Amino acid sequence: MTTESTLPSSAAEIENLMAEERKFPPSPGFVAQANAKASLYEEAERDFEAFWAKLARERVAWYRPFDTTLEWDLPFAKWFTGGTLNVAYNCIDRHVERGLGSKVAYHWIGEPGDTRTITYADLQREVSKAANALLELGVRTGDRVAIYMPMIPELPIAMLACARIGAPHTVVFGGFSAEALAGRIQDSQAKMVITADGGWRRGKAAMLKGAVDEALDTAPTIEKVLVVRRIGEHDIPVHMEPGRDFWWHDIVERQSDQHTPVPVDSEHMLYLLYTSGTTAKPKGILHTSAGYLVGTSFTHEMIFDLKPDDVYWCAADIGWVTGHSYIVYGPLANAATGIMYEGTPDTPAWDRWWQIIEDYKVSILYCAPTAIRAFMKQGEQWPRQHDLSSLRLLGSVGEPINPEAWLWYHEHIGGGNAPIVDTWWQTETGMILITPLPGVTTTKPGSATFAFPGISVDVVDGNGQSVPLGGGGYLVLKRPWPAMLRGIYGDPERYKQTYWSRFPGMYFAGDGAKRDTEGYLWLLGRVDDVMNVSGHRISTIEVESALVDDKRVAEAAVVGKNDPITGQAIFAFVILKSGIEADDDLANALRDHVAKVISPIAKPKFLMFTPDLPKTRSGKIMRRLLRDIAEGRKLGDTTTLADSNVVTTIRERSGVAEEV
Ligand code: PRX
Repeated sequence: MTTESTLPSSAAEIENLMAEERKFPPSPGFVAQANAKASLYEEAERDFEAFWAKLARERVAWYRPFDTTLEWDLPFAKWFTGGTLNVAYNCIDRHVERGLGSKVAYHWIGEPGDTRTITYADLQREVSKAANALLELGVRTGDRVAIYMPMIPELPIAMLACARIGAPHTVVFGGFSAEALAGRIQDSQAKMVITADGGWRRGKAAMLKGAVDEALDTAPTIEKVLVVRRIGEHDIPVHMEPGRDFWWHDIVERQSDQHTPVPVDSEHMLYLLYTSGTTAKPKGILHTSAGYLVGTSFTHEMIFDLKPDDVYWCAADIGWVTGHSYIVYGPLANAATGIMYEGTPDTPAWDRWWQIIEDYKVSILYCAPTAIRAFMKQGEQWPRQHDLSSLRLLGSVGEPINPEAWLWYHEHIGGGNAPIVDTWWQTETGMILITPLPGVTTTKPGSATFAFPGISVDVVDGNGQSVPLGGGGYLVLKRPWPAMLRGIYGDPERYKQTYWSRFPGMYFAGDGAKRDTEGYLWLLGRVDDVMNVSGHRISTIEVESALVDDKRVAEAAVVGKNDPITGQAIFAFVILKSGIEADDDLANALRDHVAKVISPIAKPKFLMFTPDLPKTRSGKIMRRLLRDIAEGRKLGDTTTLADSNVVTTIRERSGVAEEV
């Protein structure tokens, strides 16, 4: 749980932000054609259950219709019970059946420049073959399948094949380490891993299968491994364990392209997705089928104003929830044409994205503020070289977007007229919950504006009392929504504790927020021990335990430090065991160790050796003071410190904090 009750000091910056006077009303041209109407808010407020029930009836092809909209046994929700459906059927087959087989589902672009075009009919054949292969390899409805892949078409194909047979998947971001993969397999008790030899990143072949081999040493539930050849033997030699490991091209390609989707209950588990919490052990966030499909598809159509001819690009990695909801399930349920790009934005040069937008006439772009700030830093000459006039709507997700980045995005990418939707949500929420509605909402740069229709958001003080307009506090959600998490896999107690105990009867998101006098919401970032680095959630405690893993480390404390590009950067304070010499080599070795244990994204940018840490008399590390030190700020209240000399000593040393 949260260890501190204060809001981050960025609150002061938010005061400045809220002084932001500029407002962007929707243009009359956009309003005239917009999917979203202001009446949605009233309709949803009149009866939110009836609102979602109507959508569920309209948007889902049911095998058996549901009979109850919501069973709410706080904090456990069940939506659309009594119904049966198949999510893959809803994302693919029903579109083919109504004549959309030749519509492109994905334009895929490999980093080296190779491309593939996958229509809905192709997807139906490929997913059916993969589903048949899973069955041949012994996977059954209800079995968990781990997926650890680069951004190649076989990744969504594998997910949809799982959904087609009712086998929940757990996608592990390809940038995670073998150890992180093993932990997720152990927790989910997955029976199979689907992976690739590797993927292309920054012109280099990044290995994946080797990490799977390493993970399997400690993950005995895995019986079979299915491996896509993306790179080839020349660049990545791959060990294939006889009887356990199978090449995708050997097994999948020879299957029948006919497969009948398996009907599952509305509340059947669709997937688990692990995310960092406030302990060292990631949480398996559990999402189910019908409510998730309704929530993701409806928000996708409204918030991105999706039209049949749009070319939609969500530039996230499918390994994160953004990719699950807004590259795979939401867009495919809406028969969208999407872009999937394998590599990094700077390969071969900083205009790779703009080239893709020009080539494919992308009309909707959805990405993270970190990417926008990185592009800003490179300069507008890169987008200026390309025709971006096809873009008609832009989105932002994953972290607060600062007004400068918002305005740059608006002007240099959106040509000064594409509306921007700043969307707030979480792995747990499954779908976007706070966002402008394009064509309806007047936006303010830096504000995610208002709750989506049907969603009840509030900002409360430490006692759970609603804070009047103009004030700040904790962001809470006050009623269930269809795509919400159904729990933490195997740990209902932790689910209750983490989300529902801080404020009884309310979902505590872990974020601070302010509401201005017009009711606009301004997200302040996390108020718990979770950092947000480039839009990736990383637990301070996870990094600390990776550091103390090293025998030379006695204790470690980690905080997030504001960073102009990545939002936050990881700052680690490390106490060494006596007799161990602090030097640069050791600092680098420790940083590399964190990258190996968790992922390169969790590698501390700053590492400082210190003789002691500021603690309360009960021994709790005072991260707030460490944050002050990391930021070079005037120290906050130190009266509860057990030893007030400690911060002075650290301060004196902070000159040696090294930036790498
Ligand atoms: O702190 C909020 C931040 O990202 C957290 C959720 O992270 P994750 O589960 O990895 O999902 C990210 C993609 C949905 C939130 O608790 N966050 C997400 N979107 C925004 C945001 N902070 C401010 N503005 C946003 N638009």
